[in-house]
Amino acid sequence: MDYNKKSVEDINVSGKKVLLRCDFNVPMAKDGSGVITDDKRIRAALPTIQYLLEKGAAVIACSHMGKPKGEWKPELSMAPVAARLSELLGKEVILAKDIVGDDAKAKAAALKPGELLLLENLRYDKGETKNDPEFAKALADLAGADGVYVSDAFGTVHRAHASTAGVAAYLPAVSGYLIQKELDVIGGALAAPKRPLVAILGGSKVSSKIGVINNLLEIADTIIIGGGMAYTFSAAQGGSIGNSLLEEDWKGYALEMIEKAKAKGVKLLLPVDTVIADNFAPDAASDVVESGKIPDGWQGLDIGPKTVELYCDAVKDAGTVIWNGPMGVFEFEKFAVGTKAVAEALSKTDAITIIGGGDSAAAVQQLGYADKMTHISTGGGASLEFMEGKVLPGIACLQDK
Ligand code: 3PG
Repeated sequence: MDYNKKSVEDINVSGKKVLLRCDFNVPMAKDGSGVITDDKRIRAALPTIQYLLEKGAAVIACSHMGKPKGEWKPELSMAPVAARLSELLGKEVILAKDIVGDDAKAKAAALKPGELLLLENLRYDKGETKNDPEFAKALADLAGADGVYVSDAFGTVHRAHASTAGVAAYLPAVSGYLIQKELDVIGGALAAPKRPLVAILGGSKVSSKIGVINNLLEIADTIIIGGGMAYTFSAAQGGSIGNSLLEEDWKGYALEMIEKAKAKGVKLLLPVDTVIADNFAPDAASDVVESGKIPDGWQGLDIGPKTVELYCDAVKDAGTVIWNGPMGVFEFEKFAVGTKAVAEALSKTDAITIIGGGDSAAAVQQLGYADKMTHISTGGGASLEFMEGKVLPGIACLQDK
């Protein structure tokens, strides 16, 4: 999908009220203390917020948090985000007690240029995920007759919700800097990659990566498969995979992909060996066997040392590397070796390195290689759908340049 959308710099925001959709859906401590465990998404929104405030816009920011499904769950309030945002900006963030209710309306109406208001969790209202036009209009109305809508919520652009798509029917709609950056880097790598383009795809399920594999087979020079989904490829080719992850229904698809890669001249690399475990636990007994030769009662939890060598070699001379999905169960130190080795290889190559959000971003961060990558996407599902070549409703609705 090729996008050439207007940005905040292409529209006059001075003295106007701007409805700004961010993705502040940040991970929180599980103990209900309201502690944000990773504020990357809040930091990523700062350039656009700062630009708007400096230009004299009155900014009405909004986001979802979790999946409250129309219920007012206090543990999913935006209050911790307001506090963190205020710390990062060094200025007051006014928090509305509701979304489009009396409190938000009054606070939005009184908002002055250079001030920032944050609405409560958009998904407290069922109209948000239903893309209800009335709810979208009520959000737009907060910005008033000459208001502007700015979308910077890259992590949510694959959702056609009221605040990500519907609202664009009522206000002039442009993108913020974060969306522009994600479009430039990921979009650029897909449309005109510096070659060779190597895609590393891991994670547990073939079924969740079909679209990406299919689309990248049209674009990439090399596709590397790792993680749990490699065992479905192995089983499809007649290998023994013991108790490893298997998606029986996707074996035919795996064979089809192998054939398609051959027909297109795309190098498709599959693991040649695997680290097996006698159970799914951090301290399980382990061994290394050839791919397709996993004994009964054992399961593959990481790529093996020969595969590590093969995969690291494949990224050495790459022009661009796109990585989505870990190579093994990296949450268990013993089975993080493959994922770590790939992250390290990426940190050393001169290639443009792009990490899809979600698990791969978490792995790169946890393993300490985050600052060595060209770009770590703030979108999990969104970056995946972007790489699938799907239309992203949250971007499609913005004004063309
Ligand atoms: C994400 O975390 O991927 C985005 O915030 C979207 O959240 P959702 O999957 O609940 O729509």
